[in-house]
Amino acid sequence: MAGYEDLIGREDINDLEAILSVANTDTTEIVRAVRDNADAIFTWDYEKGARPALEKLYEKAKTSQWNGETDLDWSIEVDLESVGVNNFAQNAAPGGAGFADFEVAGTPFETWTDQQWLDLGVESNKWMLSQFMHGEQGALICTAKIVETVPWIDAKYYAATQVMDEARHVEVFAKYLDTKLDGYYPINTHLGLLLEDIVNDSRWDMTYLGMQIMVEGLALAAFGFMHMMTTEPLLKQLLRYVMSDEARHVAFGVISLKEYYEGLTDAEIFERQQFAFEAAVRMRDRFMQQEVWERMGVPVKEAIEAVMLTPTRQMFQMMLFSKIVPNCKKLGLLDRNDAWLRRRFEELGVIQFEDWVDTGSEYENFALTDEELASAS
Ligand SMILES: [Fe+2]
Ligand SMILES: [Fe+2]
Repeated sequence: MAGYEDLIGREDINDLEAILSVANTDTTEIVRAVRDNADAIFTWDYEKGARPALEKLYEKAKTSQWNGETDLDWSIEVDLESVGVNNFAQNAAPGGAGFADFEVAGTPFETWTDQQWLDLGVESNKWMLSQFMHGEQGALICTAKIVETVPWIDAKYYAATQVMDEARHVEVFAKYLDTKLDGYYPINTHLGLLLEDIVNDSRWDMTYLGMQIMVEGLALAAFGFMHMMTTEPLLKQLLRYVMSDEARHVAFGVISLKEYYEGLTDAEIFERQQFAFEAAVRMRDRFMQQEVWERMGVPVKEAIEAVMLTPTRQMFQMMLFSKIVPNCKKLGLLDRNDAWLRRRFEELGVIQFEDWVDTGSEYENFALTDEELASAS
């Protein structure tokens, strides 16, 4: 299948050289201005109750606010090396659970020492959490944009609570990286381009589609995976709190867009399908973690070919789409226009998740207990 030049800047979705040719060239940048092309929308319709599911979500959000400073136990000392190994089994040395299928002979890893494998675990962990932090800032900005651009008062109310949630998320990831992991990586270009595409777009629903459905859908799956894998107690706690919010955020996207997309024409839906595909490819590309291979001093392309394309790692990459695909299905995006998005997800190897639970009401399972919320109040 070819012909993706217009959408993703290359003909073949798996063209590794093309993926790697896009890199962050200004890693010392402090401020970045991105054009937001949307109108701010006032509504004079203040009537509550038009969308009970949103109202319920808003009430839930009001009583689920936690405090990153006081609810998390920052006195926990973090052992960098054990965190790296435990979080990212896929980066553990050959013979580890994650690398059962990895043959080092003939790869840049042939001569690696145990120390280098440990360093890789530490760097991968730092890289992963850094990208989550940048993504959280993307969510902060996108949600503030939704407050401005969505035409419904109940959605403005909910989005306002999400702005506060995202501020907390940026804050706790930044604090963890700064005080426990000794700094962070700059934003990965593929992630940065995706966030810019979302902010650039003038249509209010595209912010939701890009952020709540795609970026946050992926984050919820990835946080769940890390939460399950990590044995580092502070990170586990941090992820637990963040996930309880993220599940609501993805629900916010599903509930809002379900209504709106039912009224769109095929041509309008096709634009959303293309946008979702483009976002999916960019997110997959960013997980190649090219900056980590550079820092480890191995040839990037060979390293990715050796490690990232192993069946185990591919399975991890696919799992990242386990929330996105069912949510796209629920929104009716998979099968409109001769199943265009279904065929793209087949090509990406992620269609098998279509019947997994969607995230429209799953947030209730992630809710914090009264005890977990106690110290915030
Ligand atoms: Fe977040
Ligand atoms: Fe979020």
